[in-house]
Amino acid sequence: MSDRSAARAAVATVSTPDAGAIRHDALRTLEGAASRAELRIAVTAVLGKRSPLALAHRQLGSLDADARKEAGRVLAEVRAELEEVAERRGSELAAAERAAELEADRLDLTEVIPASVADRPVRGHHHPVSATRRSLEDVFVGMGFTVAEGPEIETDWYNFGALNMPPAHPARGMWDTFYLELGEPESTVLRTHTSPVQIHLLEEALASGGLPIHAVMPGRCYRRDTPDARHLATFHQIEGLVVDRAVTFADLAGTIETFTTAYFGSDIHARLRPAYFPFTEPSAEFEITCTLCRGAGCRTCSQTGWIELGGCGMVDPAVFDAVGIDNEEWQGFAFGFGIDRCVQMRHQIADMRLLTENDIRFARQF
Ligand code: DAH
Repeated sequence: MSDRSAARAAVATVSTPDAGAIRHDALRTLEGAASRAELRIAVTAVLGKRSPLALAHRQLGSLDADARKEAGRVLAEVRAELEEVAERRGSELAAAERAAELEADRLDLTEVIPASVADRPVRGHHHPVSATRRSLEDVFVGMGFTVAEGPEIETDWYNFGALNMPPAHPARGMWDTFYLELGEPESTVLRTHTSPVQIHLLEEALASGGLPIHAVMPGRCYRRDTPDARHLATFHQIEGLVVDRAVTFADLAGTIETFTTAYFGSDIHARLRPAYFPFTEPSAEFEITCTLCRGAGCRTCSQTGWIELGGCGMVDPAVFDAVGIDNEEWQGFAFGFGIDRCVQMRHQIADMRLLTENDIRFARQF
Protein backbone atom coordinates (compact mmCIF):
# COMPACT_ATOMS: atom_id res chain seq x y z
CA MET A 1 0.00 0.00 0.00
CA SER A 2 1.41 3.38 -0.94
CA ASP A 3 1.73 6.14 1.61
CA ARG A 4 -1.08 8.08 0.06
CA SER A 5 -3.61 5.28 -0.06
CA ALA A 6 -2.63 4.37 3.47
CA ALA A 7 -3.43 7.94 4.41
CA ARG A 8 -6.70 7.77 2.57
CA ALA A 9 -7.60 4.59 4.37
CA ALA A 10 -6.67 6.27 7.64
CA VAL A 11 -8.82 9.29 6.85
CA ALA A 12 -11.85 7.06 7.01
CA THR A 13 -10.91 5.83 10.45
CA VAL A 14 -9.49 8.83 12.30
CA SER A 15 -11.67 10.58 14.66
CA THR A 16 -10.73 13.99 13.21
CA PRO A 17 -14.07 15.18 11.95
CA ASP A 18 -14.60 15.03 8.23
CA ALA A 19 -10.96 14.55 7.07
CA GLY A 20 -12.23 12.53 4.09
CA ALA A 21 -14.93 15.04 3.31
CA ILE A 22 -12.46 17.94 3.62
CA ARG A 23 -10.11 16.26 1.15
CA HIS A 24 -12.93 15.42 -1.25
CA ASP A 25 -14.37 18.94 -1.30
CA ALA A 26 -10.94 20.52 -1.51
CA LEU A 27 -9.99 18.42 -4.55
CA ARG A 28 -13.26 19.35 -6.25
CA THR A 29 -12.61 23.04 -5.61
CA LEU A 30 -9.07 22.91 -6.97
CA GLU A 31 -9.99 20.91 -10.06
CA GLY A 32 -12.92 23.24 -10.73
CA ALA A 33 -10.73 26.32 -11.06
CA ALA A 34 -10.92 27.40 -14.69
CA SER A 35 -8.17 30.03 -14.64
CA ARG A 36 -5.11 30.90 -12.63
CA ALA A 37 -7.04 33.70 -10.96
CA GLU A 38 -9.75 31.24 -9.90
CA LEU A 39 -7.07 28.81 -8.75
CA ARG A 40 -5.54 31.42 -6.44
CA ILE A 41 -8.94 31.89 -4.76
CA ALA A 42 -9.44 28.11 -4.58
CA VAL A 43 -6.01 27.58 -2.96
CA THR A 44 -6.81 30.14 -0.28
CA ALA A 45 -10.16 28.48 0.29
CA VAL A 46 -8.76 24.96 0.74
CA LEU A 47 -5.32 25.58 2.26
CA GLY A 48 -5.62 29.03 3.82
CA LYS A 49 -5.92 29.99 7.48
CA ARG A 50 -9.68 29.84 7.40
CA SER A 51 -9.92 26.67 5.35
CA PRO A 52 -11.73 23.60 6.74
CA LEU A 53 -8.30 21.90 6.79
CA ALA A 54 -6.81 24.60 9.03
CA LEU A 55 -9.90 24.46 11.21
CA ALA A 56 -9.59 20.69 11.59
CA HIS A 57 -5.94 21.12 12.50
CA ARG A 58 -6.86 23.49 15.25
CA GLN A 59 -9.31 20.95 16.63
CA LEU A 60 -6.52 18.35 17.07
CA GLY A 61 -5.84 19.71 20.55
CA SER A 62 -9.11 18.25 21.83
CA LEU A 63 -8.05 14.68 20.94
CA ASP A 64 -6.10 12.31 23.12
CA ALA A 65 -2.41 11.86 22.41
CA ASP A 66 -2.57 8.80 20.14
CA ALA A 67 -5.55 9.96 18.17
CA ARG A 68 -3.97 13.42 17.83
CA LYS A 69 -0.80 11.95 16.43
CA GLU A 70 -2.63 9.80 13.92
CA ALA A 71 -5.08 12.51 12.87
CA GLY A 72 -2.20 15.04 12.57
CA ARG A 73 -0.40 12.68 10.26
CA VAL A 74 -3.53 12.22 8.12
CA LEU A 75 -4.17 15.95 7.89
CA ALA A 76 -0.53 16.55 6.92
CA GLU A 77 -0.90 13.95 4.18
CA VAL A 78 -4.07 15.61 2.92
CA ARG A 79 -2.35 19.02 2.91
CA ALA A 80 0.62 17.61 0.99
CA GLU A 81 -1.69 16.04 -1.55
CA LEU A 82 -3.73 19.22 -1.98
CA GLU A 83 -0.56 21.30 -2.41
CA GLU A 84 0.63 18.93 -5.09
CA VAL A 85 -2.72 19.03 -6.93
CA ALA A 86 -2.78 22.84 -6.70
CA GLU A 87 0.68 23.03 -8.24
CA ARG A 88 -0.15 20.64 -11.07
CA ARG A 89 -3.40 22.45 -11.77
CA GLY A 90 -1.44 25.73 -11.82
CA SER A 91 0.95 24.52 -14.50
CA GLU A 92 -1.90 23.08 -16.54
CA LEU A 93 -3.79 26.37 -16.46
CA ALA A 94 -0.65 28.39 -17.26
CA ALA A 95 0.01 26.24 -20.32
CA ALA A 96 -3.60 26.52 -21.49
CA GLU A 97 -3.62 30.29 -21.00
CA ARG A 98 -0.36 30.69 -22.93
CA ALA A 99 -1.72 28.57 -25.78
CA ALA A 100 -4.89 30.69 -25.89
CA GLU A 101 -2.80 33.87 -25.96
CA LEU A 102 -0.71 32.58 -28.85
CA GLU A 103 -3.79 31.55 -30.73
CA ALA A 104 -5.31 35.01 -30.24
CA ASP A 105 -2.12 36.68 -31.50
CA ARG A 106 -1.79 34.49 -34.54
CA LEU A 107 -2.26 36.23 -37.91
CA ASP A 108 -4.01 33.98 -40.33
CA LEU A 109 -2.59 34.87 -43.71
CA THR A 110 -4.01 31.94 -45.58
CA GLU A 111 -6.57 32.52 -48.25
CA VAL A 112 -10.07 31.36 -47.47
CA ILE A 113 -11.13 28.95 -50.14
CA PRO A 114 -14.77 27.99 -49.89
CA ALA A 115 -15.26 24.29 -49.26
CA SER A 116 -17.39 23.69 -52.29
CA VAL A 117 -15.72 23.97 -55.66
CA ALA A 118 -18.89 25.39 -57.14
CA ASP A 119 -18.67 28.37 -54.76
CA ARG A 120 -15.05 29.06 -55.60
CA PRO A 121 -14.50 32.44 -57.24
CA VAL A 122 -13.17 32.18 -60.77
CA ARG A 123 -9.57 33.32 -60.67
CA GLY A 124 -8.18 35.06 -63.70
CA HIS A 125 -4.63 34.99 -64.95
CA HIS A 126 -2.40 37.01 -67.21
CA HIS A 127 -3.06 37.12 -70.91
CA PRO A 128 -0.42 35.02 -72.71
CA VAL A 129 1.16 38.18 -74.13
CA SER A 130 1.54 39.73 -70.65
CA ALA A 131 2.78 36.44 -69.21
CA THR A 132 5.33 36.14 -72.02
CA ARG A 133 6.46 39.73 -71.60
CA ARG A 134 7.03 39.04 -67.92
CA SER A 135 8.98 35.86 -68.47
CA LEU A 136 11.10 37.55 -71.15
CA GLU A 137 11.85 40.32 -68.67
CA ASP A 138 12.79 37.68 -66.10
CA VAL A 139 15.21 36.00 -68.50
CA PHE A 140 16.92 39.32 -69.30
CA VAL A 141 16.98 40.48 -65.68
CA GLY A 142 18.66 37.16 -64.91
CA MET A 143 21.30 38.09 -67.48
CA GLY A 144 21.94 41.45 -65.79
CA PHE A 145 19.65 43.76 -67.78
CA THR A 146 17.36 46.39 -66.31
CA VAL A 147 13.82 46.98 -67.65
CA ALA A 148 12.78 50.38 -69.05
CA GLU A 149 9.73 51.78 -70.80
CA GLY A 150 9.01 54.64 -73.16
CA PRO A 151 5.99 56.46 -74.63
CA GLU A 152 3.75 54.95 -77.30
CA ILE A 153 3.26 58.33 -78.95
CA GLU A 154 6.51 59.65 -80.37
CA THR A 155 7.70 62.54 -82.45
CA ASP A 156 9.07 61.82 -85.89
CA TRP A 157 12.56 62.49 -84.50
CA TYR A 158 12.49 59.71 -81.88
CA ASN A 159 10.80 57.13 -84.10
CA PHE A 160 12.92 57.86 -87.19
CA GLY A 161 15.27 60.89 -87.18
CA ALA A 162 17.47 60.00 -84.23
CA LEU A 163 17.61 56.43 -85.48
CA ASN A 164 19.55 57.61 -88.53
CA MET A 165 16.50 58.08 -90.76
CA PRO A 166 16.24 61.74 -91.69
CA PRO A 167 13.00 62.95 -93.34
CA ALA A 168 12.34 61.24 -96.69
CA HIS A 169 14.91 58.53 -95.94
CA PRO A 170 13.82 55.50 -98.00
CA ALA A 171 14.21 53.13 -95.02
CA ARG A 172 11.18 54.80 -93.42
CA GLY A 173 9.15 52.74 -95.85
CA MET A 174 10.05 49.64 -93.82
CA TRP A 175 7.44 50.75 -91.29
CA ASP A 176 3.86 51.53 -92.32
CA THR A 177 3.17 54.34 -89.93
CA PHE A 178 0.09 55.72 -88.20
CA TYR A 179 0.39 59.51 -87.97
CA LEU A 180 -1.55 61.48 -85.39
CA GLU A 181 -3.32 64.74 -86.20
CA LEU A 182 -1.18 66.61 -83.72
CA GLY A 183 1.18 69.51 -84.44
CA GLU A 184 2.76 69.77 -87.87
CA PRO A 185 1.54 67.20 -90.42
CA GLU A 186 3.38 63.86 -89.98
CA SER A 187 5.29 65.14 -86.95
CA THR A 188 3.68 62.83 -84.36
CA VAL A 189 3.37 59.08 -84.72
CA LEU A 190 2.23 55.97 -82.90
CA ARG A 191 5.60 54.33 -82.48
CA THR A 192 6.20 51.67 -85.10
CA HIS A 193 8.81 49.85 -82.98
CA THR A 194 10.39 50.03 -79.54
CA SER A 195 13.71 51.33 -80.94
CA PRO A 196 12.90 54.98 -80.04
CA VAL A 197 13.10 53.97 -76.36
CA GLN A 198 16.83 53.47 -77.03
CA ILE A 199 17.04 57.20 -77.76
CA HIS A 200 15.23 58.11 -74.52
CA LEU A 201 17.62 55.90 -72.55
CA LEU A 202 20.68 57.37 -74.25
CA GLU A 203 19.43 60.90 -73.52
CA GLU A 204 18.79 60.05 -69.88
CA ALA A 205 22.19 58.40 -69.57
CA LEU A 206 23.87 61.47 -71.03
CA ALA A 207 21.99 63.80 -68.68
CA SER A 208 22.60 61.78 -65.53
CA GLY A 209 25.88 59.93 -66.08
CA GLY A 210 23.93 56.70 -66.61
CA LEU A 211 26.40 54.95 -68.93
CA PRO A 212 27.00 52.03 -69.35
CA ILE A 213 23.51 50.80 -70.26
CA HIS A 214 22.24 47.22 -70.18
CA ALA A 215 18.50 47.47 -70.64
CA VAL A 216 15.50 45.82 -72.23
CA MET A 217 12.46 47.86 -73.21
CA PRO A 218 9.19 46.01 -73.76
CA GLY A 219 6.09 47.74 -75.07
CA ARG A 220 3.21 48.11 -77.51
CA CYS A 221 3.80 49.18 -81.10
CA TYR A 222 1.54 50.09 -84.01
CA ARG A 223 1.73 49.60 -87.77
CA ARG A 224 -0.70 50.38 -90.54
CA ASP A 225 -0.71 46.71 -91.55
CA THR A 226 -3.63 44.48 -92.40
CA PRO A 227 -3.71 41.84 -89.67
CA ASP A 228 -3.17 38.26 -90.79
CA ALA A 229 -2.09 34.96 -89.27
CA ARG A 230 1.40 36.31 -88.55
CA HIS A 231 0.90 40.09 -88.20
CA LEU A 232 -1.11 42.43 -86.01
CA ALA A 233 -1.61 46.19 -86.37
CA THR A 234 -1.14 46.57 -82.63
CA PHE A 235 1.57 44.30 -81.34
CA HIS A 236 4.39 44.10 -78.81
CA GLN A 237 8.13 44.24 -79.08
CA ILE A 238 11.00 44.01 -76.67
CA GLU A 239 14.05 46.07 -77.44
CA GLY A 240 17.52 45.51 -76.03
CA LEU A 241 20.35 48.00 -75.74
CA VAL A 242 23.83 47.52 -74.38
CA VAL A 243 26.22 50.47 -74.39
CA ASP A 244 29.62 50.01 -72.83
CA ARG A 245 33.32 50.27 -73.61
CA ALA A 246 34.74 47.54 -75.86
CA VAL A 247 31.43 45.86 -76.75
CA THR A 248 31.70 43.54 -79.75
CA PHE A 249 29.49 41.70 -82.19
CA ALA A 250 30.42 38.47 -80.35
CA ASP A 251 28.75 39.89 -77.21
CA LEU A 252 25.62 40.49 -79.26
CA ALA A 253 25.62 36.97 -80.73
CA GLY A 254 26.26 35.43 -77.31
CA THR A 255 23.46 37.45 -75.72
CA ILE A 256 20.94 36.37 -78.37
CA GLU A 257 21.94 32.70 -78.10
CA THR A 258 21.78 32.80 -74.28
CA PHE A 259 18.36 34.38 -74.33
CA THR A 260 17.06 31.93 -76.95
CA THR A 261 18.06 28.78 -75.09
CA ALA A 262 16.97 30.25 -71.72
CA TYR A 263 13.52 31.13 -73.01
CA PHE A 264 12.72 28.47 -75.61
CA GLY A 265 14.76 25.53 -74.30
CA SER A 266 18.22 24.10 -74.80
CA ASP A 267 17.39 22.50 -78.15
CA ILE A 268 16.41 25.84 -79.71
CA HIS A 269 19.29 27.92 -81.05
CA ALA A 270 19.77 31.29 -82.73
CA ARG A 271 21.57 32.26 -85.90
CA LEU A 272 22.28 35.65 -87.44
CA ARG A 273 21.92 36.57 -91.10
CA PRO A 274 23.16 39.80 -92.68
CA ALA A 275 20.43 42.43 -92.97
CA TYR A 276 19.96 46.16 -93.10
CA PHE A 277 18.66 48.53 -90.44
CA PRO A 278 19.49 52.24 -90.53
CA PHE A 279 20.34 52.38 -86.82
CA THR A 280 22.80 49.46 -86.70
CA GLU A 281 25.98 48.73 -88.61
CA PRO A 282 26.56 45.90 -89.23
CA SER A 283 22.99 44.68 -88.93
CA ALA A 284 21.54 41.21 -88.78
CA GLU A 285 18.25 39.42 -88.64
CA PHE A 286 18.14 36.73 -86.05
CA GLU A 287 16.39 33.47 -86.50
CA ILE A 288 15.69 30.69 -84.05
CA THR A 289 15.23 26.98 -84.58
CA CYS A 290 11.63 26.41 -85.70
CA THR A 291 9.78 25.48 -82.52
CA LEU A 292 7.20 23.44 -84.45
CA CYS A 293 9.53 20.98 -86.17
CA ARG A 294 12.53 21.59 -83.90
CA GLY A 295 14.71 22.23 -86.91
CA ALA A 296 13.65 19.31 -89.09
CA GLY A 297 11.82 21.48 -91.61
CA CYS A 298 8.06 22.00 -91.87
CA ARG A 299 5.48 24.19 -93.64
CA THR A 300 5.66 26.96 -91.04
CA CYS A 301 9.41 27.46 -91.54
CA SER A 302 9.22 26.81 -95.32
CA GLN A 303 11.32 23.66 -94.81
CA THR A 304 14.32 25.70 -93.58
CA GLY A 305 14.18 24.68 -89.92
CA TRP A 306 14.53 28.36 -88.91
CA ILE A 307 12.04 31.11 -88.04
CA GLU A 308 12.82 34.81 -88.08
CA LEU A 309 12.37 36.49 -84.71
CA GLY A 310 13.89 39.97 -84.89
CA GLY A 311 16.64 42.36 -85.87
CA CYS A 312 19.89 43.35 -84.25
CA GLY A 313 23.28 44.88 -84.82
CA MET A 314 26.00 47.19 -83.52
CA VAL A 315 24.64 50.66 -82.71
CA ASP A 316 25.42 52.93 -85.66
CA PRO A 317 27.76 55.78 -84.58
CA ALA A 318 25.25 58.16 -86.19
CA VAL A 319 22.77 57.23 -83.43
CA PHE A 320 25.29 58.17 -80.73
CA ASP A 321 25.96 61.41 -82.67
CA ALA A 322 22.25 62.27 -82.76
CA VAL A 323 22.16 62.22 -78.97
CA GLY A 324 25.66 63.61 -78.37
CA ILE A 325 27.41 60.53 -76.99
CA ASP A 326 31.11 60.12 -77.83
CA ASN A 327 31.15 57.25 -80.32
CA GLU A 328 34.89 56.74 -79.94
CA GLU A 329 34.57 55.97 -76.25
CA TRP A 330 31.30 54.02 -76.34
CA GLN A 331 30.10 51.13 -78.46
CA GLY A 332 26.88 49.25 -78.24
CA PHE A 333 24.64 46.62 -79.64
CA ALA A 334 20.90 46.55 -79.95
CA PHE A 335 18.19 44.10 -80.77
CA GLY A 336 14.44 44.06 -81.07
CA PHE A 337 11.85 41.37 -81.62
CA GLY A 338 8.15 40.65 -81.41
CA ILE A 339 6.69 39.42 -78.13
CA ASP A 340 3.52 38.23 -79.86
CA ARG A 341 5.71 36.26 -82.25
CA CYS A 342 7.37 34.60 -79.24
CA VAL A 343 3.96 33.67 -77.85
CA GLN A 344 2.98 32.27 -81.21
CA MET A 345 6.18 30.25 -81.47
CA ARG A 346 6.19 28.98 -77.95
CA HIS A 347 2.52 27.99 -77.82
CA GLN A 348 2.24 27.13 -81.50
CA ILE A 349 -0.71 29.41 -82.15
CA ALA A 350 -1.81 29.10 -85.76
CA ASP A 351 -3.36 32.57 -86.08
CA MET A 352 -1.95 35.54 -84.18
CA ARG A 353 -5.26 37.40 -84.36
CA LEU A 354 -6.54 35.08 -81.62
CA LEU A 355 -4.32 37.05 -79.24
CA THR A 356 -6.42 40.20 -79.64
CA GLU A 357 -9.92 38.81 -79.95
CA ASN A 358 -10.48 38.36 -76.22
CA ASP A 359 -12.24 35.06 -76.66
CA ILE A 360 -12.33 33.60 -73.18
CA ARG A 361 -12.23 30.04 -74.56
CA PHE A 362 -8.86 30.89 -76.07
CA ALA A 363 -7.48 32.78 -73.07
CA ARG A 364 -8.45 29.98 -70.67
CA GLN A 365 -6.07 27.59 -72.40
CA PHE A 366 -2.98 29.29 -70.97
N1 DAH B 1 13.13 48.08 -84.76
C1 DAH B 1 13.30 46.97 -85.68
C2 DAH B 1 11.96 46.60 -86.23
O1 DAH B 1 10.98 46.90 -85.65
C3 DAH B 1 13.93 45.77 -85.02
C4 DAH B 1 15.35 46.05 -84.66
C5 DAH B 1 16.36 45.80 -85.55
C6 DAH B 1 15.66 46.55 -83.42
C7 DAH B 1 17.66 46.03 -85.26
C8 DAH B 1 16.98 46.79 -83.09
C9 DAH B 1 17.97 46.52 -84.02
O2 DAH B 1 17.34 47.27 -81.91
O3 DAH B 1 19.25 46.75 -83.68
O4 DAH B 1 11.90 45.97 -87.25
